[in-house]
Amino acid sequence: MKRRKLVVLGLLGTTLDGGSGARRWDRWRPTVSLAQHEDLVISRLELLHGSASTDVAGVVATDVGHASPETRVVRHVIEFKDAWDFEGVYATLHDFASSYPFDPEKEDYLVHITTGTHVAQICLFLLTESRHIPARLLQTSPRRGRDARGTGTYSIIDLDLSRYDRLASRFRKEQVEGQSFLKFGIETKSAGFNQLIERIEHVAVSSRAPVLLTGPTGAGKSKLARRIFELKKARRQVSGEFAEVNCATLRGDAAMSTLFGHKKGAFTGATADRPGLLLKAHQGVLFLDEIGELGLDEQSMLLRAIEEKVFYPMGSDRDATSDFQLLCGTNRDLRARVASGDFREDLFARINLWTFRLPALHERPEDIPPNLDFELRQASRTLGVNVTMNREARERFLAFASGWTWSGNFRDLNASVTRMATLAVGGRITSDVVAAEIAQVRDGAPTATAEGPGADLLLRVLGAERAARLDRFDRVQLQDVLTVCRGAASLSAAGRVLFANSRSERRSVNDADRLRKYLARFGIELADVRRAT
Ligand SMILES: Nc1ncnc2c1ncn2[C@@H]1O[C@H](COP(=O)(O)OP(=O)(O)O)[C@@H](O)[C@H]1O
Ligand SMILES: [Mg+2]
Repeated sequence: MKRRKLVVLGLLGTTLDGGSGARRWDRWRPTVSLAQHEDLVISRLELLHGSASTDVAGVVATDVGHASPETRVVRHVIEFKDAWDFEGVYATLHDFASSYPFDPEKEDYLVHITTGTHVAQICLFLLTESRHIPARLLQTSPRRGRDARGTGTYSIIDLDLSRYDRLASRFRKEQVEGQSFLKFGIETKSAGFNQLIERIEHVAVSSRAPVLLTGPTGAGKSKLARRIFELKKARRQVSGEFAEVNCATLRGDAAMSTLFGHKKGAFTGATADRPGLLLKAHQGVLFLDEIGELGLDEQSMLLRAIEEKVFYPMGSDRDATSDFQLLCGTNRDLRARVASGDFREDLFARINLWTFRLPALHERPEDIPPNLDFELRQASRTLGVNVTMNREARERFLAFASGWTWSGNFRDLNASVTRMATLAVGGRITSDVVAAEIAQVRDGAPTATAEGPGADLLLRVLGAERAARLDRFDRVQLQDVLTVCRGAASLSAAGRVLFANSRSERRSVNDADRLRKYLARFGIELADVRRAT
């Protein structure tokens, strides 16, 4: 390839470039110095100057020609009405650049930014950075101390940062590390999930605004929230602590006090001051899980704490301040809660700025293998043996797992792998162990709906299929009723426990009959409960 000709564009420096006596050669003159570097061979110098500096421009042009005969100097008269007026200077230089016949194929351009007012320098910088001028920047400076013949030094600055491989790759590396950190080092393959994590990482390190994590139970909201905090901590974006609470557990006085603290004596039982979670999260992160369950009073106080950074601890007449980043989690439809009047619209608007929905496990089947490996490593650590799966066992499990719904998501997958790892002799999970586990998972399919005391019994009495079809309303009641029946000698005995209060008020009741009818609605007899136990 033919070498491109080097072309320099620059403003005349009316002071620095000035001088016409013989001693001018002893001084450093930026524009003339351009021609004095042996390793900078300039074919053409486009010298921009005002009409008032025609004389200086003439001397400089002659001297450049003297120092470097191969350099042709082309003078352009451009007038700035006011060299310190940003808008005017930018417009004038912009016009010059637009009409200049740049030919980057044949010529290599440098913009000399050492001369001219600061305003002009900034304008040249902007025009170059935005590629209105397809050039690199050229900076010159005098040598320190005595400078023989005023040659000075120069440096070339390329504003195309993508060329700075080291900078770019370092940035990229940090970003990838951040993403991998948020994924617990699990090499997930789902494009959608990776894109989501990429965005979360970006927001986590560049914003302090509230972040809302939504998604089904067990999708990893709580775990991710803590991880976001750890990432911010590692990047020194927070110095405080991670304070977390599940709002579903907050009720009454305790709710206000847990969040905002209280003064001693604020209510019965408040025997000492309590700082509360907001203060604990000062300079750190507050994670409010299941935020949809927060009471309306707490919602108003929280809103004020976010917007004005102040709140009132219970029983205190002085407000407290805390500066924290808020993360929220929910698997509820908050919009519906707003519509039903259970959630403040203004608070929702505040926390709904960055909302990320974590997908269910069945939405990313390609990620089951890496997550299986992750769970196996975890199990190895917990059980203290190296848990492995032979090829056949692994294939069998994956074939099942990638088509399964995993309604409890990571919680279910984790439980499944833990069961296999625990049952595996010597840590080796065989095909038989997998087969038994698959049967167990299939059988316990409605685990997501059958939980709490009596859930197992309910499954055994009704069978998974029928249990899965129950409404939660009936399920909870039936589970408890069956638990009582299991321990009772007869229907009457069970009835005495179940209807204890109403019994004492009404004289003649037939508890056994009432209970029999209730069970019959589900096609159950007491004998069924006995058989299942
Ligand atoms: N990305 C993940 N990979 C593997 N396990 C995970 C992941 N995210 C969460 N878990 C595990 O799944 C379980 C549920 O996670 P959690 O964050 O409590 O879910 P959520 O808050 O959405 O209900 C926890 O045991 C957690 O350790
Ligand atoms: Mg959670």
